[in-house]
Amino acid sequence: MKWDENAMADTLQESTQNNRRLTQQIIRLQEDERQSLARDIHDEIGQYLTAIHVDASAILNGRKLSSAKESALAISKVTRQMMDVVHQIIQRLRPRILDELGLGLALIELVDHWRQRCKNIKIVDHIDKNLGTLDELVSITAYRVIQECLTNIAKHANAANVSVKVKQDEQFIHLYIEDDGVGFSQTVSTQGFGLAGMIERVKGLLGEINIQSSIDQGVKVTVKLRKRVHEVAIL
Ligand SMILES: Nc1ncnc2c1ncn2[C@@H]1O[C@H](COP(=O)(O)OP(=O)(O)O)[C@@H](O)[C@H]1O
Ligand SMILES: [Mg+2]
Repeated sequence: MKWDENAMADTLQESTQNNRRLTQQIIRLQEDERQSLARDIHDEIGQYLTAIHVDASAILNGRKLSSAKESALAISKVTRQMMDVVHQIIQRLRPRILDELGLGLALIELVDHWRQRCKNIKIVDHIDKNLGTLDELVSITAYRVIQECLTNIAKHANAANVSVKVKQDEQFIHLYIEDDGVGFSQTVSTQGFGLAGMIERVKGLLGEINIQSSIDQGVKVTVKLRKRVHEVAIL
């Protein structure tokens, strides 16, 4: 086929528009995420600090050694929970672990983290350790999708079993997260920020995402992402 100059100009213009749309989407997502982080810092950390403040005042004002010990123990417990929350917030701000370990190992570590936190849920994983060369944005998106899915499972699902699979082929990586919990009706899915953000992220990279659920049927999320998005942007 012979390229004519007009067709070439049209393709270029379309690709510039696509890039601009992608940039705008990413900026909006970042803003949404900051808002959600601000809310978490306010709600979670704020609540822990208040508890510590109350217990510290009790120690200062109390007379009995035994009740002072009780308050000190309460402070110690709360600070341990706080460390966990701070760790999670930092991971959301920037999953540094991705640079250090690469996506495969970072995901294995993420799943392990949830396994330890949710001892009543059996999490089975099949994660390809070596996922080859991926664009940074693709790694981050895959990591965030699985992070959000696992957070949702811990928060909403009341599941007994969870399966996480990450596979690759030449051009794509495939994510698959399934739980056997309470599920949700399709109308719920658009209300939260997490699922909507996940869809936007994947679509922003011209990937495919499918979220399947109904009441009492658990949730199944499948995602297909191109490993190298730069190639798409200039197509
Ligand atoms: N794995 C799940 N099991 C059951 N319900 C879920 C699950 N994931 C999401 N949901 C439902 O979908 C809603 C939207 O999720 P999301 O967009 O992540 O928002 P958020 O987690 O902040 O509530 C949740 O409030 C919950 O009702
Ligand atoms: Mg959520």
